[in-house]
Amino acid sequence: MLRLGNILLWMAAAIILCQARPNVKLHSQSSSGLRSDCAANVMRLSLDKALAVGNQLEVEAINGTKHILLTPSMAAQCGYSMESDPWGNTRIYTSLMGCFVDNKDDATFNVGLRLKMYGENPSDVVSHDVSQTCSYTRWASREILCDRNYMEVSHHMANLDAEAKGQTWDGKDEKLNANLEASGASQGIWKMTFYTPEPVAMVLQEAEQAGYAAKTTSSRLVMRSPYNTAETYSEDVAGVPMEVFRVSAYYMAPQGLNVVNLAAACPKGGVLFTEDMISWHVPRRVTPLLDGRITVSEMHMGINGQRLDRSQMAARGYTLSTTDFHIVVEIPVGSPDGYYKSHAPDYQYHITYFVEPMLEVLWREDDTQDDTRYKVLFPIMTPLMPQSPQIQDDTVPETRVFSVLLGTFLHDVELRNITFSTGVLTVEESNAKGFTVQEHSLANGSKSFSLQVPFDADVVLKHNPQRLVTSYFLPLIFGLIVLPEETPFALPVDLQASLQDIVLPIMAGTCDQNQFYISVKFGSHGSNFKAIVGPRELTAEMAEDYNFYENGTHLSLILPYTAKDAVFELLTAESVKSRIDLLLMD
Ligand SMILES: *[C@@H]1O[C@H](CO)[C@@H](O)[C@H](O)[C@H]1NC(C)=O
Ligand SMILES: *[C@@H]1O[C@H](CO)[C@@H](O)[C@H](O)[C@H]1NC(C)=O
Ligand SMILES: *[C@@H]1O[C@H](CO)[C@@H](O)[C@H](O)[C@H]1NC(C)=O
Ligand SMILES: *[C@@H]1O[C@H](CO)[C@@H](O)[C@H](O)[C@H]1NC(C)=O
Repeated sequence: MLRLGNILLWMAAAIILCQARPNVKLHSQSSSGLRSDCAANVMRLSLDKALAVGNQLEVEAINGTKHILLTPSMAAQCGYSMESDPWGNTRIYTSLMGCFVDNKDDATFNVGLRLKMYGENPSDVVSHDVSQTCSYTRWASREILCDRNYMEVSHHMANLDAEAKGQTWDGKDEKLNANLEASGASQGIWKMTFYTPEPVAMVLQEAEQAGYAAKTTSSRLVMRSPYNTAETYSEDVAGVPMEVFRVSAYYMAPQGLNVVNLAAACPKGGVLFTEDMISWHVPRRVTPLLDGRITVSEMHMGINGQRLDRSQMAARGYTLSTTDFHIVVEIPVGSPDGYYKSHAPDYQYHITYFVEPMLEVLWREDDTQDDTRYKVLFPIMTPLMPQSPQIQDDTVPETRVFSVLLGTFLHDVELRNITFSTGVLTVEESNAKGFTVQEHSLANGSKSFSLQVPFDADVVLKHNPQRLVTSYFLPLIFGLIVLPEETPFALPVDLQASLQDIVLPIMAGTCDQNQFYISVKFGSHGSNFKAIVGPRELTAEMAEDYNFYENGTHLSLILPYTAKDAVFELLTAESVKSRIDLLLMD
């Protein structure tokens, strides 16, 4: 019933370069082009494309003096996500519960990141250290974060603090005690059971090796899982495919070993597209998370991890509504918070639109009054939308110039060359030949291209379907590319124009007693014709005999009436009538 949305996860992965890199130059630069801020339980860092252009980006988490390279798997395990658009604009989110975040009493969080940009030359490294302090105290008893590449759940634990202050568990169970020491249960979490839905037990170390993260903070127990691991499973909730992470964590509390059940469930689809609207459906009741009676006490939508208020949503045409089974976020295709991108699969022009909405819901359990905060950061890309650019033939035949406008294209399309009947010319070569090629920018950032070619250019084919009409024909293939990938595509355009532009030569002839006087005023084809005098084509020899004269616009002949090519028509005693025929042929 619901079409699966195209979810992009960790699009631009950290790039790990394996060769040793001695004498790496590290120079910190001013932070223009880098912006960091706090958005509730997430720290956001955005990197402008100007900084990243032509570079490979590597991100490290800073934990005190240690730097930990965030590979895609490390990021998903530890609460980091990164997404770049095709031009290099990058947004990095860090969960405040992330592995390397310096957490002071679950209230103040210091996030340190180092961005390393490698230029063409591997020894050319520019690095930026970013440090951001976030305060967040409105933790709900349960918080679930669905980021682009991981699911995270944390629970408030009333007893953890006391335990951290040195109270110990009574230690009556010797065997368990030994087990706990052997597994290095210093963090309080000893082992866990995943439900796949079949139970799978692991000690902490095994779970970490399998890509999960579990830790306790001063008052919370946190667990995290990447998507699609062996211990998570898929479930359809109200028609929306969701990934479910359910686990029981065994941890030490002052009164003994304790168990807490945690669950996260994150949508992997639920997006419906029309030509101009994206509808994102999230189950109103995420059944894997909630079993008792619940009330939705808050609901917010946001973009790029940032909540929007009602007036900001209205200004952009976003809506947030509920149906019996779903919470529905609607976003018009083309909203300025997202971006369009051109594509050319099979040499055909297509576009997509990308946007990253956020949904935040606060549920209150009617029995316990416990709150669950549910936050989903959800990149959405529309399916490929085929485009058929308009070809606008602006030719006015009387001006004897072909004029065509081609568009519209997104800003990431460039015209490279044009194939004419005589061969391919680049845009520069076309302009040099006197064909005017121009790019026109539209107010909305789109563009179009125009071309002008005179009828008389050698690339224009001509023929005369009627005596006085010339048909001009200009076959073209526009060679375009999509940047930055340089994907080629082509658009063939045939232009045709007819003009009644044939002026026939005008002949005049007179005669006197002795001679014929013939004059021809040239037509539109000038002297491009064959003259046939009587039965014969005019030759140089005859020209001399017949006083041939020619200037740029006329020719003339003077022939005696006795000329060989003349015909006697009537002979009487008093007169002789003679005729001369002149035929002009193309
Ligand atoms: C981060 O640093 C702290 C303090 O130096 C240390 O206790 C902790 O183990 C480090 N975390 C990781 C994941 O290396
Ligand atoms: C930009 O404007 C042109 C004409 O005004 C329109 O044809 C085109 O679809 C618009 N492009 C986008 C991406 O909205
Ligand atoms: C013309 O441009 C297209 C890009 O659309 C490219 O694929 C093709 O190779 C170019 N042709 C020549 C001869 O340069
Ligand atoms: C060409 O000759 C014709 C008559 O023979 C004359 O009328 C015309 O002016 C001449 N044109 C030029 C350009 O000399």
